[in-house]
Amino acid sequence: MLAFFIYGCDSNNKIWEVFQEKDLLKHPYASRCGDCHQDIYNQWKNSRHAKAYISEDYKKATHNYSKTKCLNCHIPLELSKGEKPQIRNFHKEDGVNCVSCHFSSQTNSMHGPYDVFSPPHPSTKDEDFRKAFICSSCHQETYKQWKKAKVEKTCQQCHMTPVEKKDLIQKFPFHWFHLAKEVYNHEFKTGKIKDLKVKVKKEGNTLLLTITNNQIPHNFPTADNGKPKVYVFVETFKNDKKIEEDNALITPKFAFIYNKPKILEFNFFEDFDKVKVVIYRKLSWQKKKEKITEKIFNFK
Ligand code: HEC
Ligand code: HEC
Ligand code: HEC
Ligand code: HEC
Ligand code: HEC
Repeated sequence: MLAFFIYGCDSNNKIWEVFQEKDLLKHPYASRCGDCHQDIYNQWKNSRHAKAYISEDYKKATHNYSKTKCLNCHIPLELSKGEKPQIRNFHKEDGVNCVSCHFSSQTNSMHGPYDVFSPPHPSTKDEDFRKAFICSSCHQETYKQWKKAKVEKTCQQCHMTPVEKKDLIQKFPFHWFHLAKEVYNHEFKTGKIKDLKVKVKKEGNTLLLTITNNQIPHNFPTADNGKPKVYVFVETFKNDKKIEEDNALITPKFAFIYNKPKILEFNFFEDFDKVKVVIYRKLSWQKKKEKITEKIFNFK
């Protein structure tokens, strides 16, 4: 009954002034947004975005924060459509926080994918939140690669998959007045390539591997400034006895491009009748490599 009455009111109506919490429009810490958006806050807290400034690798790479040209995407103030964001010189430890992505000083409101009625702060529905374009200000290289791949699937569909219909807020009394909606995962999970297409050819003691990334519509590995790696390990066998091994390191510069076969050549000293190919990945922030796939090929 109360909900019906409130929904019936014009959102510009003066009575809403009482509910407005003005500090929300002054770039607060993410934890402040977490007062109401608790679930999303907890997800974000576990994301790399929350670690963009405090990460040890970042600290090292910028020589203890002395490189100012590195700050724009790691402590961004607000998104400026497609371009490098402005620097936020306060609350730095928050990294890429809620207001970096959601607040616009042009409209003086939060922007998001829904048409909502949000009493404590004004909100604007913004179609860009469902598009890959919103990620392009910072993930500039990855976005360019994605555009070339010409696929429908957006970054969000893979890296922010909707979990279930839920309330956007977990706070009394606001949660009474709102319907559950699809909440997109703010952990920004990387996911994992399931398999890579691997074809082999043996020419004497030379092994030619043709590997195709036909799953990720951007380079594998992809990076703007991180140093992710992919490793291809090869072992040769004769009569089931291991003979030799070799490996190739794949950096973002020589990455597997979407749907473009890449040939790796391995030259061995001795003949073989079987090979084992194991592929690993190491994301920018990972300390240890992680196995993706293992394949055996027989040449008997
Ligand atoms: C304001 C800049 C900015 C925007 C906008 C942004 N990101 Fe990021 N993103 C970063 C930074 C910086 C990192 C690296 C943080 C770290 O690891 O220290 C990152 C890391 C990530 C990672 C983790 C990669 C890994 O190695 O695990 C994913 C996935 C990701 N972003 C996806 C997205 C998606 C999807 C969007 C669009 C909805 C997006 N990002 C928008 C700056 C941004
Ligand atoms: C006092 C509670 C409260 C606080 C604090 C709060 N919000 Fe909200 N927010 C709401 C309510 C209520 C809604 C509407 C929910 C609904 O319709 O399901 C909302 C909706 C939103 C939306 C969705 C808008 C859309 O168009 O899709 C975004 C984005 C958002 N808030 C961001 C933030 C950010 C960023 C902060 C911190 C600066 C914040 N909120 C702090 C209560 C709050
Ligand atoms: C079809 C699903 C899919 C789409 C669409 C997609 N990605 Fe990815 N992305 C992945 C997978 C899977 C990985 C993990 C690759 C790996 O194992 O290194 C990944 C890795 C990443 C990484 C990790 C880099 C690293 O190694 O640390 C970033 C950053 C990233 N994606 C950003 C984006 C952005 C930005 C977009 C949109 C422009 C996007 N992705 C579109 C599936 C996708
Ligand atoms: C890197 C950019 C980025 C950061 C950081 C970020 N969001 Fe979002 N947020 C998005 C995008 C993109 C969507 C839309 C996802 C979709 O619909 O595909 C979204 C959606 C939302 C929504 C609408 C519900 C939903 O999941 O679609 C709310 C509410 C919200 N965010 C609040 C927050 C809060 C609170 C924080 C901080 C704890 C935060 N966001 C941090 C990019 C971001
Ligand atoms: C245009 C935006 C942008 C700028 C400017 C930028 N970065 Fe980044 N950085 C990113 C994004 C996006 C990621 C996420 C992973 C990736 O794609 O490499 C990232 C990831 C990283 C990582 C890996 C994160 C981790 O925790 O392991 C390091 C280290 C890093 N950046 C250092 C730097 C340094 C040093 C500079 C300045 C020379 C810089 N960045 C400038 C966007 C940027």
